Amino acid sequence: LYMSGFGNEFSSEDPRCPGSLPEGQVHTHPQKLRKCDSFINNPQVCPYGLYAEQLSGSAFTCPRPANKRSWLYRILPSVKHKPFTAVPCGNLTENWNEVEPDPNQLRWLPFTIPKSTEKKVDFVAGLHTVCGAGDAKSRNGIGIHVYACNTSMVDKCFNNSDGDFLIVPQQGKILITTEFGKIMVKPNEICVLQQGMRFSVDVFGETRGYILEVYGAHFELPDLGPIGANGLANPRDFLCPVAWYEDRTVATGYTVINKYQGKLFSCQQDFSPFNVVAWHGNYTPYKYNLENFMVINAVAFDHADPSIFTVLTAKSMRPGVAIADFVIFPPRWGVADRTFRPPYYHRNCMSEFMGLIKGHYEAKEEGFQPGGASLHSAMTPHGPDAECFEKNSAAELQPERVAEGTMAFMFESSFSMAVTKWGLQTCQKLDKSYYQCWESLHSHFNPNWKPSKK
Ligand SMILES: *[C@@H]1O[C@H](CO)[C@@H](O)[C@H](O)[C@H]1NC(C)=O
Ligand SMILES: *[C@@H]1O[C@H](CO)[C@@H](O)[C@H](O)[C@H]1NC(C)=O
Ligand SMILES: *[C@@H]1O[C@H](CO)[C@@H](O)[C@H](O)[C@H]1NC(C)=O
Ligand SMILES: [Fe+2]
Repeated sequence: LYMSGFGNEFSSEDPRCPGSLPEGQVHTHPQKLRKCDSFINNPQVCPYGLYAEQLSGSAFTCPRPANKRSWLYRILPSVKHKPFTAVPCGNLTENWNEVEPDPNQLRWLPFTIPKSTEKKVDFVAGLHTVCGAGDAKSRNGIGIHVYACNTSMVDKCFNNSDGDFLIVPQQGKILITTEFGKIMVKPNEICVLQQGMRFSVDVFGETRGYILEVYGAHFELPDLGPIGANGLANPRDFLCPVAWYEDRTVATGYTVINKYQGKLFSCQQDFSPFNVVAWHGNYTPYKYNLENFMVINAVAFDHADPSIFTVLTAKSMRPGVAIADFVIFPPRWGVADRTFRPPYYHRNCMSEFMGLIKGHYEAKEEGFQPGGASLHSAMTPHGPDAECFEKNSAAELQPERVAEGTMAFMFESSFSMAVTKWGLQTCQKLDKSYYQCWESLHSHFNPNWKPSKK
């Protein structure tokens, strides 16, 4: 069950507790009729004896359009926990100086998923940082991670104090239990878990996907300008979970993992954190099915820039410049006349990390595989491989389906990202031969060519 809309002021109660949301005021309200025990009868106590806790996703004083907060009515407040202690971070890092910078075009073969016969790896243990830049402390930057796991998180939740996670499942659906309710996310859907929202991930087999983490900004729908009021990702296709709680004591200890200033910390408490009976607010997790994207592109000639495919953007302070954009390349018609239709050759002041959920990407039919990735860093040249260029330069230009059965995506960032040691070495998936796909591009220059007389 979900509620539809983007960044709305939602309200939700677990149906087992009707009337759990205070009415008329945020914190609580004097109920006319209180038949319960004497403590709950006090007018300053929330319905059902719940604790009220505010989760602030923006500074209190942010202008209205950017102001994000939710009120959670819960059985126990989050503050009841034993102290946090540092735990190993595995392959998760925010150290962007592990290895020397590498300006080359980089491509990775599909990242390895652990077989359950080897060892059990859950979502947190299966986080691997590929690249990133900036700093969670100054609230400005991004991290790009791959998750690969085979086991559900048991009596364990994750709390990211550093930033928002945009999760792109590539293989295997994931059931995410959050303080706001449950979200099932399948490949070709995405979900966003914003800073400080605790969640636990259940998997149903071998599971892999990509994560774009942004520090210090939240994802927004891009402005539409002359496109008008409709198009690209429409607000009503974003789905937010409904309240769901469990009143569960965990005598053996419930573990809260907190990602804080790039490191992991763990603490114990003796109850499930998913004890929110009711909530209201505009700061929530949400999901979106990429099939709902309303695709716009050139219908006469030439190319729109790939920004025309932006699903969500995390804006920087500079007008029109994103900390990171989430861009997709959905199935569509290619109709442009007298136009080389695949993506153009490009050098970009932005950095482009690409992944493939399924299918074959048009500019690289071979080599770029589902579950793999590529990174074209700031000003690193990239574009169609030699085969793609030759084929499409000679193709007869009919209307044709592009990217049928395919979903590639790009995390495009204004940061010049560093690749981690895991990305360059440990994962052992770097495709050292990547540059060769452009090696056989050859000159077609003919100085004797003459424009035909009209
Ligand atoms: C780090 O990644 C490597 C290669 O993917 C893997 O073999 C290793 O188990 C990971 N380390 C941890 C601590 O998870
Ligand atoms: C979760 O993260 C938020 C910051 O985003 C922090 O205020 C809170 O203390 C954390 N809670 C737990 C239990 O980890
Ligand atoms: C892990 O993968 C194996 C092999 O595909 C599968 O049999 C097993 O059910 C998976 N484990 C979980 C917890 O999903
Ligand atoms: Fe590009």
